[in-house]
Amino acid sequence: MAAGQNGSRPKIAARRVSKVYPTVDGSMVALEDFSLDVADGEFVCVVGPSGCGKSTFLRMIAGLDAISAGTIEIAPGVEPGKPLNSVVFQEYAIFPWKTVIDNVAFGLQMRGVGKAERLGRARYWLDRVGLGKFAQYYPHQISGGMKQRVSIIRALANDPEVLLMDEPLGALDAQTRVVLQEELLRIWEETRKTVVYITHSLDEAVLLGDRVILMSAQPGRHLATFEIDLPRPRTADALNTPRFAEYRALIWEKLSREVKRAMEQQQ
Ligand SMILES: Nc1ncnc2c1ncn2[C@@H]1O[C@H](COP(=O)(O)OP(=O)(O)OP(=O)(O)O)[C@@H](O)[C@H]1O
Ligand SMILES: [Mg+2]
Repeated sequence: MAAGQNGSRPKIAARRVSKVYPTVDGSMVALEDFSLDVADGEFVCVVGPSGCGKSTFLRMIAGLDAISAGTIEIAPGVEPGKPLNSVVFQEYAIFPWKTVIDNVAFGLQMRGVGKAERLGRARYWLDRVGLGKFAQYYPHQISGGMKQRVSIIRALANDPEVLLMDEPLGALDAQTRVVLQEELLRIWEETRKTVVYITHSLDEAVLLGDRVILMSAQPGRHLATFEIDLPRPRTADALNTPRFAEYRALIWEKLSREVKRAMEQQQ
C-alpha cells in the first residue's frame, strides 16, 4: 500500500527532489523533481537505467549527499535513540581489521551501547543468518556472500528507522543471490522494516518489493509505479509463477526503452 492512502504519515517523504552536480563545463542535472512517499513498514524497490540517479537519491535520503532542491524527511519513531537510517552498499563496506562480530556490532558501539549488549545483539544476528561460527573470523577469511550478509546484519543490528540498500546483492553470483534474497524476505517478514532498495535486477525488485518505482534515464525522474500484489510471505518459488512473469514483462517493457535512451545519451 502506498504511503498516505490510509491518512497516516509516510515514513519517508521525498518531495520534488532535484540534484545538480557541477561539471567541468557547467552543471549536470542528475535527478529532477523526484517525489516518493514510503509508508512505515513498506518495502520499495527502485529500478532505472545506469546513471539515472538512483544512488544519488539514496545518498540524499541517508544525508550523505546534499539536496539541490526539494525536501526529504524521515519520520522519527516513538522509541527514542534509534538511528534514522542505515545504509548497505554494493561493495562490502566492512572493516578488514575488525572481526566479523565487531563489524556487526560497530554501529552499536558508535552509539555507545555497552559491550555485553552490543555483542549479544551482534551474536543474535550472526546466528540468525548462519554466521555464528564465523564471529571471530576477519573479513578476508570469509566469502563474498558472507561479507555481504555481514554488511546487511550490521545495518539491521543498528535497528534503524529505515533501511537503505543500494544493490546490496549486486556483486554476488546468481545462486548466492537467491539464497540471500530469501533471507532478506524472511528477515523483513519478522522486522517489517521500512526499506528503500535499489537494484538492477527486475526479478529481485518484483520478488522483494511491495512497490517497484521506475526511474527515467538521466535526469532521473519518476516514470512509473508498479504495485506488486504477490502474496506474502514470499519465497524464491514466486519467481516461477505466471503472475511473476507478467510483472517482469510489464516493467521490462518500460525499463528497456529507458535503458536504450540512456545508452543513446552516452554516445
Ligand atoms: N559526486 C558526483 N559528482 C558529479 N557527478 C556525479 C557524482 N555522483 C554521481 N554523479 C553523476 O550523477 C548521475 C547519477 O549517478 P548515480 O550514481 O546516482 O546513478 P545510478 O542510477 O546509481 O547508476 P548505476 O545504476 O550505474 O549505479 C551520473 O551521471 C553520475 O555521473
Ligand atoms: Mg548506483
